[in-house]
Amino acid sequence: MQSLLIQGGVPLRGEVVISGSKNATLPILAAALLTAEPCVIRRVPDLSDVKFMGRILQSLGAEVSITGDTVQVQARKVKAFGDYDLIRQMRGSVCIMGPLLGRLREARVSYPGGCVIGARPINLHLKGFAALGAKVAIDEGYVHAQARRLQGAEMFLGGRSGPTVLGTANVMMAATLAEGVTIIESAACEPEVVDLAKFLIAMGAKITGAGSPIITVTGVKELHGAEHEVIPDRIETATYAIAAAATGGEVTIRGARPDHLNAVLDKLREAGVRVARAGTTLTVRHASRLKPVDLTTLPFAGFPTDVQAQMMALMTLAKGTSIITERVFESRFMHVSELSRMGADIEIEGPSAIVKGGRPLSGAPVMASDLRASAALVIAGLAARGETQVNRIYHLDRGYENIDGKLRQLGARIRRVNES
Ligand code: EPU
Repeated sequence: MQSLLIQGGVPLRGEVVISGSKNATLPILAAALLTAEPCVIRRVPDLSDVKFMGRILQSLGAEVSITGDTVQVQARKVKAFGDYDLIRQMRGSVCIMGPLLGRLREARVSYPGGCVIGARPINLHLKGFAALGAKVAIDEGYVHAQARRLQGAEMFLGGRSGPTVLGTANVMMAATLAEGVTIIESAACEPEVVDLAKFLIAMGAKITGAGSPIITVTGVKELHGAEHEVIPDRIETATYAIAAAATGGEVTIRGARPDHLNAVLDKLREAGVRVARAGTTLTVRHASRLKPVDLTTLPFAGFPTDVQAQMMALMTLAKGTSIITERVFESRFMHVSELSRMGADIEIEGPSAIVKGGRPLSGAPVMASDLRASAALVIAGLAARGETQVNRIYHLDRGYENIDGKLRQLGARIRRVNES
């Protein structure tokens, strides 16, 4: 296993280019299963989760080839039964269900487990499949959906914590090949859902309303091959913006979609960070004095749960009290104990973390058990005095393309080492 060694205290300066979005890429690759024709996806990030999705598609019979940041998928023939152990390893792989059900009227995958950020049920995905006429059964660790015919339907997909991103993606994909009209109410509005809809439309699907809470899909007989360029990763963008602010630096972020990040940019400005937008470029300059801010994570266009941990790392540096409330996932505070190890003063009260910021952080060996928590520890390490060792960085490699290389280019003293 590898870890990152960071000598903190160096302000980040320079330019960084944002990669394609992980969470848009995964369902878009799965959507290629909906047609026998070749699909070409560009601006695909080089991430272990993406490679893993490629392996899953291959295990279902698709041909997958990767050249640079372009992936070609052709699923001439595809089978409905996914490899249990392969699929079980990545929660995001649940989004192969919708395309398989749409194309073959049958899908069987291993039931995705919970993970460190919460229970992560799929009841809403299954509710949507059932509304389309599928029989859904959970048996011997598999979830099996089967339909003689898929019939468009009106459905409400809101759950306890609001809409579901992959649930919306899954049902939207299945509905493209159903008979008649499907209306998904309380659909997720995330830019990744919009990007998927754009790809499906390029494949011949009839979809309106993506990006709003009501999506309408009019089923078609078949879809064809298409080309698509994935949107820039808004979470990666936010992570570099926060890292610039935390280290007292100034960074120009290129190839981004600042319009996907208004909630984050607004909070950064409230904290005193100077943020300038110009087209696809974002320039972030540190605050003369960082101010504490309160925030609550919400579905899009609210503050993203995937940036909560990184923002908490920043708030440990702001003199005063910030209250950070997590409303999307039930237990996404894995970073708190590790940030505390670095000298942060944070208390958890129910769904909120109370951050008493302003004490300098000091480097320490830390370890996080999820992707965004690991990103928060890297930010803390960059801002801390002394050396921080972030262990188990395979989490970071799941979601941040070349994170150490990109940070080094910004002047960070960071290197990858093999854990002893
Ligand atoms: N939920 C249900 N029932 C369901 C599905 C979800 O109750 O059937 C609940 C969840 O437990 C959670 C909430 O609804 O409380 C939202 O979960 P959602 O389904 O939207 O999450 P997801 O689609 O499984 C994606 C991203 C996550 C991101 C969330 C929220 C991918 C591969 N994953 O997950 O990304 O946090 O949306 O925006 O797209 C990450 O990149 O680090 C990551 C975890």
